[in-house]
Amino acid sequence: MNLFGTTIPIASDHGGFAVKQFLIEKLKGLGYEVIDFGTHGTESVDYPDFIHPLASAVNAGQFPGGIILCGSGNGAQMTANKYPNVRAGLCWNAEQAALTRQHNNANILSIPGRFVSADEAWEITKTFLNTPFEGGRHELRVEKIPLIVNPKK
Ligand code: RB5
Repeated sequence: MNLFGTTIPIASDHGGFAVKQFLIEKLKGLGYEVIDFGTHGTESVDYPDFIHPLASAVNAGQFPGGIILCGSGNGAQMTANKYPNVRAGLCWNAEQAALTRQHNNANILSIPGRFVSADEAWEITKTFLNTPFEGGRHELRVEKIPLIVNPKK
């Protein structure tokens, strides 16, 4: 199932770098084309510099979804969620990944690189990419997330 297509953008700061590199290899192994927005090393950097370009591209519809990481996953998620068409979910296990897809229709997965192992991050990623949105009662809830709610609803 390719809910997010076959091209996946990914970005991290230094706190998520090692896990990002692991995920890139795993995704490529499954045949995905991976667009690496950086960072490209372990040197300390500012996560917004790498997360904004990815989130902006998802927001503009350039990619249906993406993966972001930082040490805690929080800074990356906060940055991505500044964009109106982005719903970034912070996931530290596969159950969270399934839920944020099923209930929140998350289109960006945020992983805390310092709090999960590489193998756990891969399980989280596979679950996120393969779990569909449930719709139904969650549809209106997701529509109510933006600050300006459609007045017809
Ligand atoms: C970097 O030290 C760390 O602050 C960053 O990776 C992230 O956890 C921020 O939310």
